[in-house]
Amino acid sequence: MPKIFITRQIPEKGINILKEKGWEVTVGPEGEISREELLEKVNGVEAILSVLTEKIDKEVMEAAGKQLKIIANYAVGYNNIDVAEAKERDIIVTNTPGVLTDAVAEHTVALLFAIAERIVEADRYTRAGKFKVWGPKLLLGADIKERILGIIGLGRIGSAVAQRMRDGFGVKVIYFDVLRNEELEKKHNIEYRELDDLLKEADFVSLHTALTDETRHLINTERLKTMKPTAYLINTSRGPVIDEKALLEVLKNKTIAGAALDVFENEPELTLGLADLENIVLTPHIASATKETRDKMAEMAANNIIAVLEGHTPLNLVELK
Ligand code: GLV
Ligand code: GLV
Repeated sequence: MPKIFITRQIPEKGINILKEKGWEVTVGPEGEISREELLEKVNGVEAILSVLTEKIDKEVMEAAGKQLKIIANYAVGYNNIDVAEAKERDIIVTNTPGVLTDAVAEHTVALLFAIAERIVEADRYTRAGKFKVWGPKLLLGADIKERILGIIGLGRIGSAVAQRMRDGFGVKVIYFDVLRNEELEKKHNIEYRELDDLLKEADFVSLHTALTDETRHLINTERLKTMKPTAYLINTSRGPVIDEKALLEVLKNKTIAGAALDVFENEPELTLGLADLENIVLTPHIASATKETRDKMAEMAANNIIAVLEGHTPLNLVELK
Protein backbone atom coordinates (compact mmCIF):
# COMPACT_ATOMS: atom_id res chain seq x y z
CA MET A 1 0.00 0.00 0.00
CA PRO A 2 1.55 3.33 -1.05
CA LYS A 3 2.46 5.76 1.69
CA ILE A 4 1.92 9.46 1.26
CA PHE A 5 3.13 12.28 3.46
CA ILE A 6 1.34 15.62 3.34
CA THR A 7 3.68 18.06 5.06
CA ARG A 8 1.05 20.45 6.47
CA GLN A 9 -2.69 20.51 7.05
CA ILE A 10 -4.22 21.37 3.68
CA PRO A 11 -7.94 21.59 2.78
CA GLU A 12 -9.61 18.24 3.47
CA LYS A 13 -10.77 17.72 -0.09
CA GLY A 14 -7.24 16.89 -1.18
CA ILE A 15 -6.55 14.64 1.80
CA ASN A 16 -9.81 12.73 1.32
CA ILE A 17 -9.22 11.99 -2.38
CA LEU A 18 -6.02 10.20 -1.38
CA LYS A 19 -7.57 8.41 1.61
CA GLU A 20 -10.41 7.15 -0.59
CA LYS A 21 -7.80 5.24 -2.57
CA GLY A 22 -7.15 3.24 0.56
CA TRP A 23 -3.61 4.55 0.73
CA GLU A 24 -1.74 5.32 3.94
CA VAL A 25 -1.89 9.08 4.26
CA THR A 26 -0.07 10.93 7.02
CA VAL A 27 -0.55 14.65 7.47
CA GLY A 28 1.87 17.03 9.19
CA PRO A 29 1.05 19.87 11.57
CA GLU A 30 -1.22 22.88 11.07
CA GLY A 31 1.74 25.25 11.42
CA GLU A 32 5.25 24.98 10.02
CA ILE A 33 6.80 21.51 10.20
CA SER A 34 10.27 21.27 11.73
CA ARG A 35 13.11 20.05 9.57
CA GLU A 36 13.62 17.05 11.89
CA GLU A 37 9.99 16.01 11.67
CA LEU A 38 10.00 16.44 7.90
CA LEU A 39 13.08 14.26 7.47
CA GLU A 40 11.59 11.62 9.73
CA LYS A 41 8.08 11.56 8.26
CA VAL A 42 9.14 11.32 4.60
CA ASN A 43 11.01 8.09 5.28
CA GLY A 44 9.60 5.27 3.19
CA VAL A 45 6.92 7.27 1.35
CA GLU A 46 6.09 7.05 -2.37
CA ALA A 47 4.71 10.59 -2.51
CA ILE A 48 5.30 13.89 -0.73
CA LEU A 49 2.68 16.63 -0.94
CA SER A 50 4.64 19.74 0.01
CA VAL A 51 3.85 23.40 0.57
CA LEU A 52 6.08 26.37 -0.17
CA THR A 53 7.47 26.77 3.36
CA GLU A 54 9.45 23.53 3.08
CA LYS A 55 12.73 23.20 1.28
CA ILE A 56 12.56 19.90 -0.57
CA ASP A 57 16.20 19.27 -1.38
CA LYS A 58 18.63 16.39 -1.75
CA GLU A 59 18.59 15.69 1.99
CA VAL A 60 14.81 15.26 2.02
CA MET A 61 14.87 13.07 -1.09
CA GLU A 62 17.56 10.94 0.48
CA ALA A 63 15.67 10.71 3.77
CA ALA A 64 12.61 9.55 1.84
CA GLY A 65 14.39 6.73 0.04
CA LYS A 66 14.53 5.22 -3.43
CA GLN A 67 10.80 4.42 -3.56
CA LEU A 68 9.92 8.15 -3.67
CA LYS A 69 8.14 8.78 -6.99
CA ILE A 70 6.56 12.19 -6.76
CA ILE A 71 6.80 15.53 -5.01
CA ALA A 72 3.50 17.33 -5.54
CA ASN A 73 3.83 20.99 -4.60
CA TYR A 74 0.76 22.78 -3.29
CA ALA A 75 1.62 26.00 -5.19
CA VAL A 76 2.23 27.18 -8.70
CA GLY A 77 5.73 28.37 -7.77
CA TYR A 78 8.22 25.56 -7.04
CA ASN A 79 11.41 27.38 -6.09
CA ASN A 80 11.27 25.48 -2.77
CA ILE A 81 12.06 22.23 -4.61
CA ASP A 82 15.40 21.20 -6.10
CA VAL A 83 13.93 20.12 -9.43
CA ALA A 84 17.32 19.21 -10.94
CA GLU A 85 18.05 16.87 -8.04
CA ALA A 86 14.61 15.30 -8.37
CA LYS A 87 15.16 14.71 -12.08
CA GLU A 88 18.51 13.06 -11.37
CA ARG A 89 16.62 10.62 -9.13
CA ASP A 90 13.68 10.14 -11.52
CA ILE A 91 11.33 11.77 -9.07
CA ILE A 92 8.45 13.61 -10.70
CA VAL A 93 7.69 17.17 -9.55
CA THR A 94 4.26 18.75 -10.04
CA ASN A 95 2.67 22.11 -9.21
CA THR A 96 -0.81 23.67 -9.22
CA PRO A 97 -1.01 26.13 -12.13
CA GLY A 98 -4.21 27.58 -13.53
CA VAL A 99 -6.56 27.00 -10.58
CA LEU A 100 -5.10 29.93 -8.68
CA THR A 101 -4.72 32.36 -11.59
CA ASP A 102 -7.97 34.27 -10.95
CA ALA A 103 -7.47 34.49 -7.18
CA VAL A 104 -3.92 35.81 -7.54
CA ALA A 105 -4.94 38.24 -10.30
CA GLU A 106 -7.79 39.53 -8.13
CA HIS A 107 -5.49 40.01 -5.14
CA THR A 108 -3.01 41.85 -7.38
CA VAL A 109 -5.75 44.22 -8.56
CA ALA A 110 -6.86 44.69 -4.93
CA LEU A 111 -3.30 45.61 -3.91
CA LEU A 112 -2.97 48.02 -6.83
CA PHE A 113 -6.14 49.83 -5.78
CA ALA A 114 -5.22 49.67 -2.10
CA ILE A 115 -1.93 51.49 -2.64
CA ALA A 116 -3.13 53.95 -5.30
CA GLU A 117 -6.25 54.93 -3.33
CA ARG A 118 -4.39 54.79 0.00
CA ILE A 119 -7.09 52.50 1.40
CA VAL A 120 -5.09 50.95 4.22
CA GLU A 121 -3.47 54.21 5.25
CA ALA A 122 -6.90 55.88 5.22
CA ASP A 123 -8.33 53.07 7.32
CA ARG A 124 -5.55 53.57 9.88
CA TYR A 125 -6.22 57.31 9.85
CA THR A 126 -9.95 56.88 10.37
CA ARG A 127 -9.61 54.29 13.11
CA ALA A 128 -7.12 56.50 14.94
CA GLY A 129 -9.83 59.16 15.23
CA LYS A 130 -7.93 61.59 12.99
CA PHE A 131 -10.91 62.28 10.73
CA LYS A 132 -12.02 65.62 12.20
CA VAL A 133 -13.11 67.46 9.08
CA TRP A 134 -13.46 66.76 5.35
CA GLY A 135 -10.51 68.20 3.44
CA PRO A 136 -9.94 69.13 -0.22
CA LYS A 137 -6.44 67.70 -0.05
CA LEU A 138 -6.94 64.96 2.49
CA LEU A 139 -5.22 61.66 1.58
CA LEU A 140 -5.03 62.31 -2.14
CA GLY A 141 -4.48 59.19 -4.20
CA ALA A 142 -3.64 58.55 -7.85
CA ASP A 143 -5.98 58.11 -10.82
CA ILE A 144 -5.92 54.70 -12.42
CA LYS A 145 -7.73 55.15 -15.74
CA GLU A 146 -5.47 55.84 -18.70
CA ARG A 147 -2.39 55.14 -16.61
CA ILE A 148 0.23 52.69 -17.79
CA LEU A 149 0.51 49.27 -16.18
CA GLY A 150 3.80 47.44 -16.73
CA ILE A 151 3.56 43.67 -16.31
CA ILE A 152 6.83 41.83 -15.74
CA GLY A 153 6.25 38.17 -16.66
CA LEU A 154 3.33 37.62 -19.01
CA GLY A 155 2.32 34.11 -17.93
CA ARG A 156 -1.18 33.09 -16.91
CA ILE A 157 -1.33 35.41 -13.91
CA GLY A 158 0.33 38.38 -15.61
CA SER A 159 -2.08 38.04 -18.55
CA ALA A 160 -5.09 37.81 -16.22
CA VAL A 161 -4.04 41.02 -14.45
CA ALA A 162 -3.45 42.76 -17.79
CA GLN A 163 -6.85 41.76 -19.12
CA ARG A 164 -8.73 42.85 -15.97
CA MET A 165 -6.97 46.20 -15.73
CA ARG A 166 -7.35 46.98 -19.41
CA ASP A 167 -10.97 45.87 -19.83
CA GLY A 168 -12.18 46.89 -16.40
CA PHE A 169 -10.33 50.09 -15.73
CA GLY A 170 -9.06 51.46 -19.04
CA VAL A 171 -5.35 51.30 -18.35
CA LYS A 172 -2.77 50.91 -21.09
CA VAL A 173 -0.73 47.74 -20.60
CA ILE A 174 2.91 47.17 -21.52
CA TYR A 175 4.90 44.07 -20.61
CA PHE A 176 8.34 42.55 -20.40
CA ASP A 177 9.01 38.83 -20.52
CA VAL A 178 12.08 36.85 -21.51
CA LEU A 179 9.81 35.23 -24.09
CA ARG A 180 8.08 37.74 -26.28
CA ASN A 181 4.59 36.52 -27.23
CA GLU A 182 3.14 38.41 -30.19
CA GLU A 183 -0.04 36.35 -30.16
CA LEU A 184 -0.81 37.43 -26.58
CA GLU A 185 0.12 41.00 -27.46
CA LYS A 186 -2.60 41.03 -30.10
CA LYS A 187 -5.10 39.12 -27.99
CA HIS A 188 -4.77 41.43 -24.99
CA ASN A 189 -3.89 44.57 -26.97
CA ILE A 190 -0.67 45.12 -25.08
CA GLU A 191 2.80 46.22 -26.09
CA TYR A 192 6.22 44.71 -25.48
CA ARG A 193 9.00 46.76 -23.85
CA GLU A 194 12.54 46.01 -22.81
CA LEU A 195 12.72 45.83 -19.00
CA ASP A 196 14.36 49.21 -18.43
CA ASP A 197 11.98 50.93 -20.86
CA LEU A 198 9.01 49.40 -19.07
CA LEU A 199 10.30 50.63 -15.70
CA LYS A 200 10.79 54.15 -17.08
CA GLU A 201 7.32 54.30 -18.58
CA ALA A 202 4.97 52.48 -16.20
CA ASP A 203 2.82 54.11 -13.52
CA PHE A 204 2.23 50.69 -11.97
CA VAL A 205 4.75 47.86 -12.19
CA SER A 206 3.42 44.41 -11.29
CA LEU A 207 5.68 41.36 -10.92
CA HIS A 208 4.57 37.94 -12.18
CA THR A 209 7.78 36.02 -12.79
CA ALA A 210 8.88 32.75 -11.26
CA LEU A 211 11.82 32.95 -8.83
CA THR A 212 14.96 31.69 -10.58
CA ASP A 213 18.66 32.61 -10.52
CA GLU A 214 17.87 35.08 -13.30
CA THR A 215 14.99 36.82 -11.52
CA ARG A 216 16.49 37.00 -8.00
CA HIS A 217 16.89 40.74 -7.26
CA LEU A 218 15.65 41.57 -10.75
CA ILE A 219 14.28 44.70 -9.10
CA ASN A 220 17.41 46.20 -7.53
CA THR A 221 18.50 49.73 -6.61
CA GLU A 222 19.45 50.66 -10.13
CA ARG A 223 16.17 49.45 -11.61
CA LEU A 224 14.10 51.03 -8.85
CA LYS A 225 15.78 54.32 -9.65
CA THR A 226 14.67 54.14 -13.26
CA MET A 227 11.03 54.12 -12.10
CA LYS A 228 9.00 57.34 -12.04
CA PRO A 229 8.71 59.14 -8.70
CA THR A 230 4.93 58.74 -9.08
CA ALA A 231 5.08 55.00 -9.81
CA TYR A 232 3.94 52.08 -7.66
CA LEU A 233 5.43 48.59 -7.43
CA ILE A 234 3.23 45.54 -6.78
CA ASN A 235 4.55 42.04 -6.03
CA THR A 236 2.45 38.88 -5.78
CA SER A 237 5.14 36.59 -7.25
CA ARG A 238 8.07 35.74 -4.97
CA GLY A 239 9.76 38.05 -2.48
CA PRO A 240 13.39 37.65 -3.58
CA VAL A 241 12.55 39.06 -7.03
CA ILE A 242 12.90 42.42 -5.24
CA ASP A 243 15.96 43.55 -3.30
CA GLU A 244 13.90 44.49 -0.25
CA LYS A 245 16.57 46.70 1.35
CA ALA A 246 16.81 48.66 -1.88
CA LEU A 247 13.04 48.99 -1.95
CA LEU A 248 13.01 50.27 1.64
CA GLU A 249 15.45 53.03 0.65
CA VAL A 250 13.50 54.23 -2.40
CA LEU A 251 10.25 54.20 -0.44
CA LYS A 252 11.84 56.16 2.41
CA ASN A 253 13.30 58.69 0.01
CA LYS A 254 10.09 58.77 -2.05
CA THR A 255 12.06 57.92 -5.17
CA ILE A 256 8.92 55.95 -6.05
CA ALA A 257 5.41 56.64 -4.74
CA GLY A 258 4.62 53.35 -3.07
CA ALA A 259 4.59 49.57 -3.05
CA ALA A 260 2.16 46.77 -2.29
CA LEU A 261 3.65 43.41 -1.40
CA ASP A 262 2.16 39.99 -0.75
CA VAL A 263 5.55 38.25 -0.68
CA PHE A 264 8.83 39.07 1.05
CA GLU A 265 12.49 38.40 0.58
CA ASN A 266 12.89 36.50 3.87
CA GLU A 267 9.37 35.37 4.65
CA PRO A 268 7.87 35.65 7.19
CA GLU A 269 10.38 38.31 8.25
CA LEU A 270 10.15 41.84 6.90
CA THR A 271 13.16 44.04 6.27
CA LEU A 272 13.48 46.24 9.33
CA GLY A 273 11.74 49.56 8.75
CA LEU A 274 9.41 48.36 6.00
CA ALA A 275 6.40 48.12 8.30
CA ASP A 276 7.00 51.66 9.59
CA LEU A 277 6.35 53.22 6.20
CA GLU A 278 2.98 54.72 5.24
CA ASN A 279 3.50 54.29 1.49
CA ILE A 280 3.37 50.51 1.51
CA VAL A 281 0.61 47.91 1.75
CA LEU A 282 1.55 44.49 3.14
CA THR A 283 -0.30 41.16 3.02
CA PRO A 284 1.08 37.82 4.33
CA HIS A 285 1.42 35.73 1.13
CA ILE A 286 -2.32 35.25 0.72
CA ALA A 287 -2.86 36.07 -2.96
CA SER A 288 -4.17 32.57 -3.73
CA ALA A 289 -5.90 32.25 -0.37
CA THR A 290 -9.58 31.98 -1.18
CA LYS A 291 -11.62 29.06 0.08
CA GLU A 292 -12.46 27.88 -3.45
CA THR A 293 -8.95 28.21 -4.81
CA ARG A 294 -7.24 26.48 -1.91
CA ASP A 295 -9.69 23.56 -2.26
CA LYS A 296 -8.87 23.30 -5.96
CA MET A 297 -5.13 23.42 -5.27
CA ALA A 298 -5.49 20.58 -2.77
CA GLU A 299 -7.47 18.49 -5.26
CA MET A 300 -5.00 19.19 -8.03
CA ALA A 301 -1.97 18.23 -5.94
CA ALA A 302 -3.74 15.03 -4.82
CA ASN A 303 -4.71 14.15 -8.40
CA ASN A 304 -1.12 14.58 -9.52
CA ILE A 305 -0.09 12.04 -6.89
CA ILE A 306 -2.82 9.63 -7.97
CA ALA A 307 -1.75 9.89 -11.62
CA VAL A 308 1.87 9.09 -10.83
CA LEU A 309 1.18 6.29 -8.33
CA GLU A 310 -1.21 4.71 -10.84
CA GLY A 311 1.43 4.87 -13.55
CA HIS A 312 0.19 7.82 -15.61
CA THR A 313 1.75 11.12 -16.57
CA PRO A 314 0.47 13.81 -14.20
CA LEU A 315 -1.35 16.80 -15.64
CA ASN A 316 0.89 19.36 -14.01
CA LEU A 317 4.37 18.09 -14.58
CA VAL A 318 7.13 20.60 -13.82
CA GLU A 319 9.73 20.52 -16.57
CA LEU A 320 13.35 21.27 -15.79
CA LYS A 321 14.17 24.60 -17.47
C1 GLV B 1 1.81 30.63 -4.08
O1 GLV B 1 2.57 31.50 -3.80
C2 GLV B 1 2.00 29.77 -5.22
O2 GLV B 1 3.07 29.75 -5.84
O3 GLV B 1 1.05 29.03 -5.52
C1 GLV C 1 1.27 30.99 -13.23
O1 GLV C 1 0.20 30.39 -13.20
C2 GLV C 1 1.69 31.83 -14.34
O2 GLV C 1 2.05 31.26 -15.36
O3 GLV C 1 1.61 33.05 -14.23
